[in-house]
Amino acid sequence: MNYHVLTLFPEMIEQGLRTSIIGRALADGTVTLETVNIRDHTQNKHGKTDDYPYGGGAGMVMQAQPVYDAYMAVRGNLKKEPRVIYVTPQGRVFNQAIARELAVEEDLVFICGHYEGIDERVLDEIVTDHISIGDYVLTGGELPAMVMIDAISRMIPGVLHNMESAEDDSFGDGLLEHPQYSRPEVWHDRRVPPILLCGDHAKVDAWRREQSLIRTALRRPDLLETACISPKEKAFIAKFLENQEKL
Ligand code: ADE
Repeated sequence: MNYHVLTLFPEMIEQGLRTSIIGRALADGTVTLETVNIRDHTQNKHGKTDDYPYGGGAGMVMQAQPVYDAYMAVRGNLKKEPRVIYVTPQGRVFNQAIARELAVEEDLVFICGHYEGIDERVLDEIVTDHISIGDYVLTGGELPAMVMIDAISRMIPGVLHNMESAEDDSFGDGLLEHPQYSRPEVWHDRRVPPILLCGDHAKVDAWRREQSLIRTALRRPDLLETACISPKEKAFIAKFLENQEKL
């Protein structure tokens, strides 16, 4: 996977991603990252990349020319048309399924906007996907791009050193993950659930599955509609919720 990020703040992307697990994947070449400073591609002799919006209104709009030329500089080095993601609150909302879908691409281009957005004409010409990270507005597209790159990279073989941990994650099967415990056995008078110490893997797996079901039902009931759960598990959740109401 080769990421290409078009941005006015390349140092933000570099600093954010060249650390921790994604940093390791970049260092060992499992994924690559190219940041392109949009400002380096402006034809304006003062280095300007934005201007007033036609029709009036607050704020500035990023102009088409520098964004287009920054994109063409990336496109020139690729064999085929890449997916080009414009990170915007006006896109479809990013989730684990989209992360999985994008993880099979060879190249992904991210365009980070600032101010009041980017001239629509260049977006019409080059963007294949409009994607948001949630229904709130940030000051720029850099953080959303980093969020997506992190989530996508975790789906790429070799990025996590134990692929199992990606499979067991929250959303892996459409459910939230079960709770986790580590040493000591008792902390602040709170004991680790005894079943985790019994050594019977089948029992532990069954308990964890139940905890996933309960947690999802309590915290994210909307996920149950599309999660992979059996009729027996559905009945288990219904019974659990019925007992909860009685409490
Ligand atoms: N740019 C500003 N806010 C955003 C959001 N919520 N998602 C993606 N890009 C954004």
